[in-house]
Amino acid sequence: MTTSKIIKQLFLSFSKKDDKSFEVAAREYIEREKRKKHNIVAKELEKALYNTGDLPTSQKRFKNSLPIPRDTEKGFPLLEIQHFNKNFDSLIISEETKEQLEQIIREFKDSDILATYNLQYKKKILLCGKPGTGKTFSAQILSSVLSIPLIYIRFDAIISSYLGETAGNLRRVFDFIEHGTWIVLFDEFDIIGKNRDDRHEHGEIKRVVNSFLQMLDNLKGDSIIFAATNHQNILDPAIWRRFDDVVYYNLPDEKIRQQIFENYLKSMKRKNDIDLVKFSKLSKGLSPADIKMITEEAMKIAIINSKNSISMNDVEIAVNKFIRREKVKNNEMGDR
Ligand SMILES: Nc1ncnc2c1ncn2[C@@H]1O[C@H](COP(=O)(O)OP(=O)(O)O)[C@@H](O)[C@H]1O
Ligand SMILES: [Mg+2]
Repeated sequence: MTTSKIIKQLFLSFSKKDDKSFEVAAREYIEREKRKKHNIVAKELEKALYNTGDLPTSQKRFKNSLPIPRDTEKGFPLLEIQHFNKNFDSLIISEETKEQLEQIIREFKDSDILATYNLQYKKKILLCGKPGTGKTFSAQILSSVLSIPLIYIRFDAIISSYLGETAGNLRRVFDFIEHGTWIVLFDEFDIIGKNRDDRHEHGEIKRVVNSFLQMLDNLKGDSIIFAATNHQNILDPAIWRRFDDVVYYNLPDEKIRQQIFENYLKSMKRKNDIDLVKFSKLSKGLSPADIKMITEEAMKIAIINSKNSISMNDVEIAVNKFIRREKVKNNEMGDR
């Protein structure tokens, strides 16, 4: 987060009376001061935030939470705390998937009632499906709907640098998580299956994955943990068993593709000639993220040509650009 974002977050949390997110932003600011080696300022701020010394414990607002964990070798932060304000309806997915997410939300809200029946809300959830279908987006939406900050962890980043360090890094990530209530996303969980050919690397990764699964098993606290992957087929059964729920993101069918077109074009006036049914048919196999990209391109084409409404032609140009881009990506441009 930039300094101005942190300050905005402080203001927002003050006006929403959200102590938790105030503390998170304040901590983030203190960490920045420390990184700049402004140690005295950091100490002063810490003292101010936690009232250390002046007040009896009962009157202290925050209990001291942990600083953001960092990689011991390179010092980069192992996780990022993010705040979102997104609407559940902006996620356009099949009814089944939507209901599944709704149930996760409701169980979390009713977790104390469930507990009286000795039942546990769905706490560890695997998100899978093709890229651009809304896995990361869903975690952001749940964070918004429940007003709980998202802890974002690039699983591959933790693992790739120093495999030997990884178990320690993961331990510190889990310690941090267990000290608060968060929506946690271990994104790009795919690394688990990636290095299969390299036998040495693969053995190392297996070890890391096992320690991850163990930490997941012993997880304390009241967070929801998501892990997202584009390659669910390569995860072995041991991994599946660890999750309370698996949410699968289909590529959108024609009806949903149309809704996505409508949604992402709604900020601009449309000429009558625009036939979204046609584009919904044409866009078979595309992900919501692909369609979003096309609509944004189309709107930009209209705008830079000083038009105040979008036409069939604008969308067509955008679609063709997208097709060309896919060809480049798939090495189908025909050059030798
Ligand atoms: N089902 C969806 N409904 C609406 N927008 C979506 C959907 N899926 C993806 N998007 C858009 O595409 C962007 C990228 O999607 P993302 O959630 O990162 O995909 P992934 O499944 O690869 O994690 C999102 O931020 C969102 O703007
Ligand atoms: Mg993602």
